[in-house]
Amino acid sequence: MKFSAILSTVTLLALGATAKPTAAPSLPACDANTPLPCKCPSSADYAESITTRILGVNAKDAEKLMNDFFHPEWLGASPWETRGRDNVVGAIRTSEFQTSGGLYNVTEKLLEHTVKADGSFKQRFEHHKPTLPLAYHDGSGFFYGYWITIEARFYSKYETQLTWSAHGCETGHIQNFSQFHQWALGNALEILTTNGKVKGVTSGAVSAQNF
Ligand SMILES: *[C@@H]1O[C@H](CO)[C@@H](O)[C@H](O)[C@H]1NC(C)=O
Ligand SMILES: *[C@@H]1O[C@H](CO)[C@@H](O)[C@H](O)[C@H]1NC(C)=O
Repeated sequence: MKFSAILSTVTLLALGATAKPTAAPSLPACDANTPLPCKCPSSADYAESITTRILGVNAKDAEKLMNDFFHPEWLGASPWETRGRDNVVGAIRTSEFQTSGGLYNVTEKLLEHTVKADGSFKQRFEHHKPTLPLAYHDGSGFFYGYWITIEARFYSKYETQLTWSAHGCETGHIQNFSQFHQWALGNALEILTTNGKVKGVTSGAVSAQNF
């Protein structure tokens, strides 16, 4: 028994020793459900960003303001065209969106939309594939697609953690995700404050971004 265990270990080691050196693992092509990091088309740059902040509000109040796909005014957008049913997977919205390379009409498709009884929610959407690649106005490059997740987790009655993550492929970095997401979370906080919903402790925003 013991001998055969040693033997098989020796065999495995021998096999390992003669195996070809492994190349760097190749990454999966970026898409909605790929693990990160992922691989962009060769002419695009990879962007990855996560921002989180605790808002001193009840998760249900955060959900009401921030989880309506056709009404994302809190993040500075108001869709001028929508298709499908609001908050149902497959819904599509088109809105104007400011970037460092000017204003763009971006069409986005809802991939996931869930709400728990305590108000925790998850919303995922992507830059709508049939509209891609989308050329920059100055001809210097393209949007090749981005994928966004906005999640809110009930922590206590008046503390809700918002986490906003993004990955995408584009020439250069025409969007600064963490800057935009921090601004939008601050804007949501202002709206919730005006509406008298902030009754707990709010933290600062923290971001990690690969560019
Ligand atoms: C977006 O599309 C609308 C409707 O076609 C148009 O009025 C608007 O000027 C467009 N905005 C940009 C930035 O292209
Ligand atoms: C993006 O925005 C963040 C937060 O405002 C800032 O710290 C960072 O320098 C910006 N990155 C780029 C590449 O502009």
